[in-house]
Amino acid sequence: MGIDTHRSVEPTSKPKSEEPELVFVPEEPKFSLDDIILPQAVRDELLDVATYADNAHLVFEIWGFKHTHKFSRRIGINLYGPSGTGKTMAAHAIAKNLNRKILVVNYADVESKYVGETPKNLRKVFDAGRATNSILFFDEADAILSRRVTNMTQAVDVSVNQTRSVMLMLMNEYQDFIIFATNFIENFDPAFMRRISVHVKFELPDLECRRRLWRKYIPKELPNNLDVDELARKFEGISGSDIANAMLNAAFKAARLGSNSLDRTLVFAAVENIIESKQANNPHRIKS
Ligand SMILES: Nc1ncnc2c1ncn2[C@@H]1O[C@H](COP(=O)(O)OP(=O)(O)O)[C@@H](O)[C@H]1O
Ligand SMILES: [Mg+2]
Repeated sequence: MGIDTHRSVEPTSKPKSEEPELVFVPEEPKFSLDDIILPQAVRDELLDVATYADNAHLVFEIWGFKHTHKFSRRIGINLYGPSGTGKTMAAHAIAKNLNRKILVVNYADVESKYVGETPKNLRKVFDAGRATNSILFFDEADAILSRRVTNMTQAVDVSVNQTRSVMLMLMNEYQDFIIFATNFIENFDPAFMRRISVHVKFELPDLECRRRLWRKYIPKELPNNLDVDELARKFEGISGSDIANAMLNAAFKAARLGSNSLDRTLVFAAVENIIESKQANNPHRIKS
């Protein structure tokens, strides 16, 4: 299956149960480290992570620490920080750096409304990771790694906790490296925290990174009167994703207006529009 989805519904055969069959397919990493604009310190941390992943195999598998350090083993890395700062890109880049495919799992892919199905789906994810020798990447992992529900008055809470227990067990058994990305770290369950070896913090780009981002997202071919330095200084507190989106939105606006060049005022308006919609929304809930 070459399409970019992990949920595959077989339309021809009659489904055995009400649930569609889930197939988790790894993909070639879409980004490399060179595609991501980050402060040097964060970039170095990502490179360290890639090294850790390589060495984890040596230490745990070949040198046998999987037997002696079964439960102190730390196999995860967590990329955290605001939405749109390059965490998903970074996960791809790490996999690419390791010359591995990446198996991207969003919680929605494994969550099932049927009691007991979610843990089964999670097992399939880990099995697929093993079978395909790919890097597991739990994107937007908040839902799955957050604290256990303590007030278990409802069946749903029981099943959420059951899912977490299964997740912990699967992580304990897993022989390989896992990447998580989350916009919230506050809610992480300590049991998961203990299994994560490195936390890499992503921040909104500083002035220099914003300059580089603007430069990156203004195509060479585009006729324009944009001043990168001006843009970088004028708009603080915006993410790489905001910059990329603003450029694209402004370009479509210019095209619709029949302009043959992109005027800076259109980009200003596009950024302001993004800032406004972010403020109108709960900033934590904005999806990149
Ligand atoms: N640091 C960055 N460098 C280059 N592009 C970025 C960066 N951060 C975000 N982008 C742009 O925004 C898009 C969304 O970024 P993503 O990695 O999904 O953010 P996150 O996972 O942190 O929410 C990327 O595909 C890219 O176009
Ligand atoms: Mg993301």
